[in-house]
Amino acid sequence: MKKFILLFISALFSFGAFSKPDEGMWLLNKIAQLNYGDMQKLGCKLSAEEIYSINNSSLKDAIFQLQNSQGMGFCTGEIVSNKGLLFTNHHCGYEAITKLSSPEHNYLDDGFWAKSYDDELSVKDMRVSRVVRIEDVTDRVLEGITDETSESEREKMVNKVRKEIAEEAKKDTHYEASVSEMYQGGEYYLFVYEVFGDVRLVGTPPQAIGKFGGDTDNWMWPRHTGDFSVFRVYMSPDGKPTKSYSKDNVPYQALHHLPISIAGIEEGDFAMIVGYPGQTERYLSSYGMIYKRDFFNPSIVTVLETKLKTLKVDMDADINIRLANADSYASNANGHKLFKGEALTLKNSDAIQQKEQLERDFQKWVESDYARNKKYGNVLSNLKQSYEAFGPVTVDMIYLSVGLLQGSDNVMSAQAFMNLANLLKDQKNNKTAIDAIITNLKSTSNKMFDKYFPDTDRKVFEATLKLYIEEIPAERRNAVFTDYIFKKFKAKTEAESIEKFIQAAYTKSIFTNKEKMDAFLEKPSYKTLNNDPIFSFVTSIFSNLMSTQMSYLGAMDGIDVNERLFIEGLREFQPNKTFYPDANSTLRLTYGTVNSYKPSDGVDYHYVTYSKGILEKEDPTSDEFTVPVELKEKILAKDFGRYADETGDLPICFLSDNDITGGNSGSPIINGKGELIGLAFDGNWEWLCSNLLFSEELERTINVDVRYVVWIIDKLYDCQHIMSELDIRTNK
Ligand code: ARG
Repeated sequence: MKKFILLFISALFSFGAFSKPDEGMWLLNKIAQLNYGDMQKLGCKLSAEEIYSINNSSLKDAIFQLQNSQGMGFCTGEIVSNKGLLFTNHHCGYEAITKLSSPEHNYLDDGFWAKSYDDELSVKDMRVSRVVRIEDVTDRVLEGITDETSESEREKMVNKVRKEIAEEAKKDTHYEASVSEMYQGGEYYLFVYEVFGDVRLVGTPPQAIGKFGGDTDNWMWPRHTGDFSVFRVYMSPDGKPTKSYSKDNVPYQALHHLPISIAGIEEGDFAMIVGYPGQTERYLSSYGMIYKRDFFNPSIVTVLETKLKTLKVDMDADINIRLANADSYASNANGHKLFKGEALTLKNSDAIQQKEQLERDFQKWVESDYARNKKYGNVLSNLKQSYEAFGPVTVDMIYLSVGLLQGSDNVMSAQAFMNLANLLKDQKNNKTAIDAIITNLKSTSNKMFDKYFPDTDRKVFEATLKLYIEEIPAERRNAVFTDYIFKKFKAKTEAESIEKFIQAAYTKSIFTNKEKMDAFLEKPSYKTLNNDPIFSFVTSIFSNLMSTQMSYLGAMDGIDVNERLFIEGLREFQPNKTFYPDANSTLRLTYGTVNSYKPSDGVDYHYVTYSKGILEKEDPTSDEFTVPVELKEKILAKDFGRYADETGDLPICFLSDNDITGGNSGSPIINGKGELIGLAFDGNWEWLCSNLLFSEELERTINVDVRYVVWIIDKLYDCQHIMSELDIRTNK
């Protein structure tokens, strides 16, 4: 899910200007001061202190970021019991679920419910992190920096202090800490975290429920997806986070867990979402938007489309191939539809015109004052120039990186061998270093070959190579073709030469054959690598990358400085407007209401969907719209118990006008009393440029209703041990 920003038109500016109540991803340590009054008016009953406190337990203590083992955040989850039970989306648990699945234990297709703690499945590559406290450290970070400080000097100074502050915060504690940049370098905030590395899968519905509607319904309303999964966080017996799984660990006792309200919702009810939105660019100039519409998005869409189409054929034919690729397929398909929808919205809506209007007003204001003009006079023209240069070179970069270098598993793994090749040139003197690298490469290579399907890999590689040749004119191509492929694999036509190269790559290379790879790792030699077709392909690309990279980075430089100045200028230009920083994977809160929308003339979308809609969409011939038998039976029997609303049907998903983006997936949507009413999981097709501009009329969050979630746990799969932990509230 995803979302975006705003229209600061002149009218707004001249009246003073508030953001719309539903716009903005706010820092929690600022809400008491900036937002709380508004929130109360909309129906928030909690105090600001109950939402964010550094002295007492508060709502924020129940909200966790889901991270991979490298600490990269990808989703949000919330604690719903005093035994560390964590709810998140099904699509957030997707990687864990597919990795734990096999054709024999196919949790992805069949679902999984642990009957006891012992049944829970340890998830190796996931950790979860909670914010302990947030502190504004802007003054200290920017001390000594003036308008005269050069960009490179500025960067050095800022990074040094950021590191110092984080180190101080960690000292003598088990905490992690980092200083995050806001407003493109206008402000800095310290975040102190507690990170838990022992996370286990407790339950998931089959993907026919968790991903019902598949890529067809993705990013769309009306929706009927049960997009949730259940995990448990563990801690050491003495109550501390641990780095990884241990059988001695015990369920985590959170400082706060969310009660669950099954009392129902109505349009207009207060609703807030707390989570970890990944990235927005709400202060992007119109030139940046045009760049995305015309260059960035179309190229990424074409490359992903080629990969997805090729992969799908083999995934449909073989369950092993499907399970091995399900996760990367799903995330590429999700990105593909997002980038396509974003470009379309930019084309068909007035988003860019809104931004242009703001820029005209800004420029007029800038030029009306000598000092302002000196500082900001060229910001917009610089951005225009930089983005115009950035466009074509981005296309080259995307085809090269996402197309060629990430085109196949083997090409990616070959990149990890470049260091080794250097060391092998002087094998005798580098023995220790070589041994260390080989140990690492053995484990990487085992992992890669564990689920490697050379025929499928070959098809994807071939398709992306051909696409590159078709789309990138000869004079802009990486010299790997002229220097290596067309030279080493001479043939009558370019196409035949590529065929010959691919044939060699999949019959001779160590990167496409496990036995050959194992033999090499036992007895590594420079000569083998140097003669390897895939390794030579990769090194040739890298040795010819410099010029593309230089123009790419060059254009980016001009963008960074001027974007920072643009925001700084905008904040001066609109002194009465309450600004919020772009999303950057740090903890944020957005508030608004349960709210429907009108997607187009004559069409009114209701804010809630029901179980009958699942049966309306059912199509047993499509894997996206297959309804599990047990679900269909219960829906037909109307066996909804206390989870039905006044219509007698079971609510499935609902809409709210909260302002979220990717990374918020799995976030709790919370009522005015601090109770969980659903899980946010998507944005909507009619405003997919939400990362760049907010729309009050068209931007919505799609949530799965918590009544559907708990009904599935309670009634559909009868998981009474989970039910006994949940803190269910039935009064509105
Ligand atoms: N669009 C959602 C997001 O970006 C992901 C939905 C996953 N479901 C799917 N059918 N691919 O968070």
